[in-house]
Amino acid sequence: MENGQQISDFANLHEQIYHADCMELMAHIPDGFVSLILTDPPYGISYQNHFTRKKHQILEGDTGIDYERFAWESYRILADNAHAYFFTRFDCYPYHYDCLKQAGFQIKNCLVIEKGNVGGIGDLQGSFANNAEWLIFCQKGRRVFNRTTLLPNRNGGIPHAGRKPYREYKTRFPACWFGEEYPKATYNSSWLRKHQIFHPTVKNVEFLSWLIQISSLPEELVFDGFMGTGSTALAAIINGRSYLGAEISGEYYALAQKRIKEVSENGGY
Ligand SMILES: C[S@@+](CC[C@H](N)C(=O)[O-])C[C@H]1O[C@@H](n2cnc3c(N)ncnc32)[C@H](O)[C@@H]1O
Repeated sequence: MENGQQISDFANLHEQIYHADCMELMAHIPDGFVSLILTDPPYGISYQNHFTRKKHQILEGDTGIDYERFAWESYRILADNAHAYFFTRFDCYPYHYDCLKQAGFQIKNCLVIEKGNVGGIGDLQGSFANNAEWLIFCQKGRRVFNRTTLLPNRNGGIPHAGRKPYREYKTRFPACWFGEEYPKATYNSSWLRKHQIFHPTVKNVEFLSWLIQISSLPEELVFDGFMGTGSTALAAIINGRSYLGAEISGEYYALAQKRIKEVSENGGY
């Protein structure tokens, strides 16, 4: 890859996206090196379809990855007692689940998160619109969730006569996130247009931030082998975590670098 960075330079494995094949990068990552995996791999399907007028560009590498190998490598590079989140889709879910389980992960939940845009691909006349993203949530060893201030309790902190006061913030999250309380998993098309982000599967940085806050500590290293426009890296930066990952497409790699520069210079998102 003409990425200007040598993947084999272990000393510099922190804090960057490589313009590279994820599997090539993973092969250079030592065992237990990353503290959280939050990744959005290609599903091995084409985003081109015959049912809408607007055609998305076919994603590079979207003829599929060797998911079995990816699952084994993910398990190997993840630290003990750490969390991993893998975006998936209902029709890939059984295969992804099997691969992750075979690799050694303890699979805890399937998260179902409301999208900010309702899916406009597929058989528009004869199937339900896809209004949620799915993520397989796994552990290697055991890690408990961080206490966060993400979700206030309705009666936050008000003591009831003779009872313990409610906690101000929820300590347990549901597996399905729908409604005003929660960030959406994706943006709507006008937001993407306004911010000039052209990629068919961009994930919402605020949603990724929530997972990062729940499952990692400041300065820990977050890995995403399929960075796309760099959303996971942005969420890591905003939350004071390090990031490491790859993106195979030169166009998306450049877009990710642009977004990272903007966030690093302006803070926030
Ligand atoms: C589902 S998208 C990720 C989108 C990302 N979450 C975002 O918010 O922009 C998957 C990305 O993986 C990239 N990709 C596909 N195969 C790859 C590979 N073998 N190594 C690295 N990146 C790959 C594609 O170009 C695509 O941008």
